[in-house]
Amino acid sequence: MAEPFLKWPGGKRWLVQRHSGLFPSTFRRYIEPFLGGGAVFFHLAPSRAILSDANSELINAYKCLQAHPEIIDRKLRRLHAHHGPRLYYRMRAMKPTSAMGKAIRFIYLNRTCFNGIYRVNHKGEFNVPMGSKDLVEYPDGLLLAVAERLRAASLKVADFEETIDCASKGDFVFVDPPYTVMHNNNNFIKYNASLFSWTDQVRLSSALRRAASRGALIMLSNADHDSVRTLYCKFGYHHRIDRSSVLAAESAHRCKTSELLITTYRTFNGEQAHGALRLARGGQAEAHA
Ligand SMILES: C[S@@+](CC[C@H](N)C(=O)[O-])C[C@H]1O[C@@H](n2cnc3c(N)ncnc32)[C@H](O)[C@@H]1O
Repeated sequence: MAEPFLKWPGGKRWLVQRHSGLFPSTFRRYIEPFLGGGAVFFHLAPSRAILSDANSELINAYKCLQAHPEIIDRKLRRLHAHHGPRLYYRMRAMKPTSAMGKAIRFIYLNRTCFNGIYRVNHKGEFNVPMGSKDLVEYPDGLLLAVAERLRAASLKVADFEETIDCASKGDFVFVDPPYTVMHNNNNFIKYNASLFSWTDQVRLSSALRRAASRGALIMLSNADHDSVRTLYCKFGYHHRIDRSSVLAAESAHRCKTSELLITTYRTFNGEQAHGALRLARGGQAEAHA
């Protein structure tokens, strides 16, 4: 079965595992403008999809895997046999020029770096240290299944606005931007703000309003913060979802946080079985027992 092949900060595996009732049951095309590890795409397995991200290395890896899964599988098995600090730091320093060379380096580093973080310095060089995971190869058949699933998708490097502007009536747009808020004391969110500013959040909300007015179905995931709730007041249904934070590396330091999901469509009520959900419309909280 196909599943995300990358570890990605802010990945939504937890959402599809615990809240699958929140997704629409039918739609025309699936559109995901902040692809990352694509947890929702792999879960929904749509027959037509437009997937994009601003990270060109990431999209290159998807495209190469879509076209040549056997070659990537074979090369990763070879790297697996030699993995260790020497190979990691040599790969990290390399600057391959071919699309396949870049994709293999990207996937290898994603699997073996600290917590799957993607971070580059001001020269654009990947600078994350090696992590503790040493599994480079994938289980038999997994990459072939991923490639098969990706056949349904058109992949592109794009700013989110360009992709959301493609959405039309009946399309489902799943939107999972880096979390930023207007004012905050959270270092993780402050780090994101240098990559995705509050101005981007405002630009995003305008693009989503335009797409909704064309008849697209939208689910937005974002920080559960007053500034975000205000930005989306009078837009869709607001769901607060409690979850354990996975930002802290040590499990002892993980704490309960909540996230905000906004949908432009009514969701399946069975979702309340998780007991962690509240619905609101236009900013008015509507608690469900
Ligand atoms: C929270 S991650 C998405 C995680 C994904 N939903 C998953 O399950 O793994 C946010 C993504 O937004 C991308 N991104 C940041 N700024 C962007 C922009 N202006 N346009 C498009 N993508 C952007 C980042 O490269 C990152 O992959």
